[in-house]
Amino acid sequence: MTLEKEPEKLVLVGVATGSEEEALRSLSELASLVDTAGGVAVANVIQNRENVDPKTYVGKGKLEEIRRVIEMTGADGIVTDDELTPTAMKNLEDELDVKVLDRTMLILDIFALRASTKEGRLQVELAELKYRMTRLKGSGEAMSRLGGGIGTRGPGESKLDTDRRRIRDRISSLKQALDDVVRHRDLTRRTRSESGIPVVAFIGYTNAGKSTLLNTVAGADVLSEDKLFATLDPTTRSACLPGGETVLFTDTVGFINKLPHHLVDAFRSTLEEAKFADVIALVADASDPNLEKETAVVYETMDMLKIAGKPVITVYNKWDRIGEGPVSAKFPVRDPKAVETVRISALTGEGIDDFLKAVERVLLAEKREISAVIPFSDGWKIAKIRERGTMMSESYEADGIHVHCRLPKSLAGQLFGEGNIQ
Ligand code: GTP
Repeated sequence: MTLEKEPEKLVLVGVATGSEEEALRSLSELASLVDTAGGVAVANVIQNRENVDPKTYVGKGKLEEIRRVIEMTGADGIVTDDELTPTAMKNLEDELDVKVLDRTMLILDIFALRASTKEGRLQVELAELKYRMTRLKGSGEAMSRLGGGIGTRGPGESKLDTDRRRIRDRISSLKQALDDVVRHRDLTRRTRSESGIPVVAFIGYTNAGKSTLLNTVAGADVLSEDKLFATLDPTTRSACLPGGETVLFTDTVGFINKLPHHLVDAFRSTLEEAKFADVIALVADASDPNLEKETAVVYETMDMLKIAGKPVITVYNKWDRIGEGPVSAKFPVRDPKAVETVRISALTGEGIDDFLKAVERVLLAEKREISAVIPFSDGWKIAKIRERGTMMSESYEADGIHVHCRLPKSLAGQLFGEGNIQ
């Protein structure tokens, strides 16, 4: 007989410093995070106030209400919508005598559950240890009280034991290991970029359908499910465009509102995959009522990661849920920040051809037409041009090989020098 463990019941607590509607939306996302972590959100408590209380997150009166809600629902703990200071976490635990989690711990926990590659696991452990380090001031009682379950599943847990020196040692050896992995990845990336094959990076809000799109365009077998952060590691697959050109599509970790800064740091190398892409495909869930806000978060995160200046194709996904009804008529025809906008359903395959053609158009616009004389000693460049570009004419003269060709911008730079192409 197996004993099914009851999912943990958590009360969601938020502070509305802006509009209440905004706070509710954020709490509903927090509920999805709880669900993804295997728990269940049993109630919402929101307090309207100008700022969060530095000592207890919510005010005294609200604490009383939370206590009653915990009693009524039999909740195992609470989760706050914002990151708590170590003091606030300790005070809340003392006041409420239940497990206290915050948004960051929940995200870390999901990352821990989902990380599948070596890099992903290292990043999660590092982020988690750094986070805990700041919460181990004094006794470390706060952590030992959690006693398992959501928020404690990271790989660092067994090695913790509140021993700061060991944690510090572990952090530096993790950093070392991560450096090695990142160096290896840089090498793979360089080999990829030397091949001159254009790269299209999928970025977007979590759950927008990036992995599903990768599966559809490249027949890839990438984990895709209706859970947040199903993808923690970038996955790259090659595919053929309608005109026959090979491209690499790469999936990245989903963005989320209020992604804590140290998490952005920890996952920078994963998120930065997009930095090396030729084209960004911004995948957005068109059927999501929060589409506008989510797209804004994606653009903000792109800015934060300094992924700017690349051509963006906005892909309104899940179009099968919208159809041709009145919503569709009101829908923006194009994203003003993007060079192309397409409507697709990664699930049914509708619009995929349009998407691939848009990629083709954008890559073509990124191509450079070049007339040059290649010295005979650089004959290998001819093979490269034929492999990755279009050779329009080629003649062997006394001074070298005269070529007229069209090449991806990056390859043109490699073969003829960045300064010699416009
Ligand atoms: P993260 O890994 O969290 O960043 O998510 P993701 O953007 O990779 O999303 P994923 O591909 O995992 O899809 C999330 C959910 O949306 C899954 O349940 C998919 O089946 C569903 N989905 C994706 N594309 C479509 C679509 O075009 N239509 C519909 N109806 N559902 C879709």
